[in-house]
Amino acid sequence: MGIRQLCSFAALCTSLASLSSGAVVVDVHPLHGSTNSESFNNMGQASRERAASLLATAGTGDVPIVNMFAAYAMSIGVGDPATNYTVIIDTGSSNTWVGATKPYVTTETSISTGEGINITYGSGVVLGKEWLDTVTLASGLIIHNQSIGAASNATGFAPFEGIIGLGPTSDTNRTVFNETTGSFINGTIPTVMDNALAQGVIDTEVLGVSFSPITGNNSNSSINGQLSFGGIDQSRLVGDVTYTPRTSKWPASRYWGIDANLTYGQTALGNDSSNSGIVDTGTSVVVIADDLYDIYLDAIPGAYYDNVTQLTAIPLDSVSSLQNFTVYISGEPFVLDAVTQLLPADQNVEAGGVVGLRYSYITPLGWNTTSGLFDWVLGMKFLERYYAVFDTQNNQVGLAYTNHTFAAVS
Ligand SMILES: *[C@@H]1O[C@H](CO)[C@@H](O)[C@H](O)[C@H]1NC(C)=O
Ligand SMILES: *[C@@H]1O[C@H](CO)[C@@H](O)[C@H](O)[C@H]1NC(C)=O
Ligand SMILES: *[C@@H]1O[C@H](CO)[C@@H](O)[C@H](O)[C@H]1NC(C)=O
Ligand SMILES: *[C@@H]1O[C@H](CO)[C@@H](O)[C@H](O)[C@H]1NC(C)=O
Ligand SMILES: *[C@@H]1O[C@H](CO)[C@@H](O)[C@H](O)[C@H]1NC(C)=O
Ligand SMILES: *[C@@H]1O[C@H](CO)[C@@H](O)[C@H](O)[C@H]1NC(C)=O
Ligand SMILES: *[C@@H]1O[C@H](CO)[C@@H](O)[C@H](O)[C@H]1NC(C)=O
Ligand SMILES: *[C@@H]1O[C@H](CO)[C@@H](O)[C@H](O)[C@H]1NC(C)=O
Ligand SMILES: *[C@@H]1O[C@H](CO)[C@@H](O)[C@H](O)[C@H]1NC(C)=O
Ligand SMILES: *[C@@H]1O[C@H](CO)[C@@H](O)[C@H](O)[C@H]1NC(C)=O
Ligand SMILES: *[C@@H]1O[C@H](CO)[C@@H](O)[C@H](O)[C@H]1NC(C)=O
Ligand SMILES: *[C@@H]1O[C@H](CO)[C@@H](O)[C@H](O)[C@H]1NC(C)=O
Repeated sequence: MGIRQLCSFAALCTSLASLSSGAVVVDVHPLHGSTNSESFNNMGQASRERAASLLATAGTGDVPIVNMFAAYAMSIGVGDPATNYTVIIDTGSSNTWVGATKPYVTTETSISTGEGINITYGSGVVLGKEWLDTVTLASGLIIHNQSIGAASNATGFAPFEGIIGLGPTSDTNRTVFNETTGSFINGTIPTVMDNALAQGVIDTEVLGVSFSPITGNNSNSSINGQLSFGGIDQSRLVGDVTYTPRTSKWPASRYWGIDANLTYGQTALGNDSSNSGIVDTGTSVVVIADDLYDIYLDAIPGAYYDNVTQLTAIPLDSVSSLQNFTVYISGEPFVLDAVTQLLPADQNVEAGGVVGLRYSYITPLGWNTTSGLFDWVLGMKFLERYYAVFDTQNNQVGLAYTNHTFAAVS
């Protein structure tokens, strides 16, 4: 299969040679969950609620909450002729559905499965019918007979119109139910990535994710990232990708979970040998277990958890002594330095904060470490600094430096 290239603007096109063979890239952009400022000042809380839901639903087969503060979104077409939907890019869930705010439209390619969807999120359920339909991710990336939920009940998602689920297949278990008997189908359904591979649209079940820091004037809608389906886009990263196997520790293992060690400066955050957590496009910030967070907080003079921004408030005179927050993955350091831990100062007010403080993205999870089973989530603010590879083929996660890993933004 040849190399294909997709992009909306010529200036954004990447070099063909840098794409893995068979990979197709799609532009993505951040979008606020609401246009009112209230939604911007809950990114910490939204991350915590999502994490709680990821943990709480882990035993049940339900799909987790989506953080509706802000997320990365892309446009997908469903049906032929396609209706386009702006959907949340979510590696923390695996079902794909549309119909929030804009109904699913059937066309000749729509096949009813006669089954229903019942996907539980932290704050409610998404209910609807299941269809198989053609899903267009880009003009070179068209997937047939994809399971699509047509939501009839999905409130609170605006402006998002659905979700593209890029999590592990196992997470679709027990999300579809027989409408006659009302019981869940005990088994999984193929994800978009599974079908793309099975139908030869991609050669390898690998997703590359490239996000960039959100600047003051790019906090809504401007193209700010790229997904690479079927391989990585080497032009988006610097150096090598460090791969690490998916963790075996439940419930982190249910998602894109990995083992890693965290440090703040020279201080270990948690027990070196037993930390695991997840890498998640659907979480806004970086959340770490409360006991680890307390160590972080104690190390920064005057720092406190701010219940307005839901971020960590840091006095200006402590900023110069901030240490590196480092995630060691397969022994390699992935650093959020003093600059990249902090909300850009010109976003303070939008986030509900004040001018005379700085705010760190490192926030508490809401529970203490539990034998390293699920101790942290590396969300959007981490992924805006590092390229991530979600590699189903080899059951591993990759991370790489980018040209904006340490770049200051404003
Ligand atoms: C759907 O999106 C595609 C790709 O961006 C575009 O070419 C097409 O015109 C859109 N269709 C509609 C009905 O808006
Ligand atoms: C639902 O369950 C009924 C009763 O077991 C069965 O006859 C029917 O085929 C099932 N429908 C689907 C779509 O699986
Ligand atoms: C959806 O599933 C939940 C269990 O996960 C169940 O309690 C609820 O009744 C179901 N809703 C519908 C409409 O089937
Ligand atoms: C989709 O599934 C239907 C029913 O199983 C089948 O007839 C059709 O050929 C499939 N379409 C494609 C493009 O695979
Ligand atoms: C789903 O929406 C329909 C129509 O708006 C409504 O009648 C029904 O009560 C809703 N069901 C749930 C479980 O919210
Ligand atoms: C689906 O969930 C059921 C009940 O939790 C479990 O027994 C089964 O092994 C799961 N199947 C898969 C494929 O994960
Ligand atoms: C679901 O299927 C698994 C095997 O895949 C089986 O072990 C389990 O008992 C089933 N659970 C239910 C509730 O049917
Ligand atoms: C937020 O924190 C302030 C100061 O610590 C406290 O007085 C206030 O009650 C808190 N508000 C909420 C909603 O927790
Ligand atoms: C923080 O990390 C960066 C990048 O690895 C490194 O250059 C710098 O020396 C580190 N700072 C400290 C104080 O260790
Ligand atoms: C965590 O640190 C320990 C001790 O330094 C090391 O043996 C282990 O490989 C590290 N784990 C990871 C995932 O980097
Ligand atoms: C975490 O542990 C501390 C003591 O180490 C305790 O005070 C706190 O209540 C615990 N938090 C939770 C959420 O259990
Ligand atoms: C990173 O490289 C891209 C091209 O791949 C370029 O557009 C962008 O400006 C660079 N960013 C920085 C911070 O250098």
